[in-house]
Amino acid sequence: MRHLLNPLDFSVEEIDQLLDLASDIEANPAKYAHVCDGKKIATLFYEPSTRTRLSFEAAMLNLGGRVLGFASADSSSASKGESVADTIRVISCFADICAMRHPKEGAPMVASLHSSIPVINAGDGGHQHPTQTLTDLMTIRSLKGRLNNLTVGLCGDLKFGRTVHSLINALSRYTGIRFVLISPPELRVPDYIIEDTLNAKGIEYKEVENLDEAMPELDILYMTRVQRERFFNEEDYIRMKDCYILDKKKMELARDDMFVLHPLPRVNEISVEVDNDPRAAYFKQVQYGVYVRMALIMTLLEVEKPC
Ligand code: NCD
Repeated sequence: MRHLLNPLDFSVEEIDQLLDLASDIEANPAKYAHVCDGKKIATLFYEPSTRTRLSFEAAMLNLGGRVLGFASADSSSASKGESVADTIRVISCFADICAMRHPKEGAPMVASLHSSIPVINAGDGGHQHPTQTLTDLMTIRSLKGRLNNLTVGLCGDLKFGRTVHSLINALSRYTGIRFVLISPPELRVPDYIIEDTLNAKGIEYKEVENLDEAMPELDILYMTRVQRERFFNEEDYIRMKDCYILDKKKMELARDDMFVLHPLPRVNEISVEVDNDPRAAYFKQVQYGVYVRMALIMTLLEVEKPC
């Protein structure tokens, strides 16, 4: 039995296969409408979510399966003091697969050790968010036609943003990737990612503060929200929350074939005036998230691809 806790749990070849499956699902959704008949996914969300939880549920419903779960820790037995280890033993009796989001780094990994069903990490604290990364990879591959030879700008809260950490890990396995890491000094990418991934693999990167200067060289701009819930004090959040605002004027500095991605939710970091720009891909990205989660559920449940 396999879990997905970190994007590196799948090899590059397995990710390619998964994205191919997701693209086939996009092209022929009717073919997949019953492949998970009788199967159930449990969504165990101890932290707020709109897209991730509902896209897992939509994915399973699109495959003919059913869904159960909870959307907040308050409405689960966690509020009575139940451990993740006990909860997952119980959920293993109810469902065939589960997706877990938790504020504590490593909680889905702990769950996987006590689970008899596949566990998908749907975001653990400021650590990893592998299914957002699969979504991002599918978006980039669909829009640019490739996952190599790209200059990728990551902008905003690179310290607490788990989507950023997972995306750097995943993209670092492709050739010709350059990162431009755009953040205030306080919100830089954590040292362990710089050391263990970027430096260890000899990936080209630079850390800068100025978004305008970076714009012209980017193939992809990945904007992120300042992660208010992970700050120790509100004053720091207020000081940094509007550190980057992507607007029409900044978009004029970018190439015509650059695309803007954002895992969403957006707060102020992308002005709504950018939404109609053909290079704004963040709502398309949400749709890709359903296809990759359909492909992931099929892969972890070892469901045969229909002919
Ligand atoms: C992200 C997350 O939860 O990390 N959202 C998402 O899953 N699409 C990004 C964020 O909350 O800023």
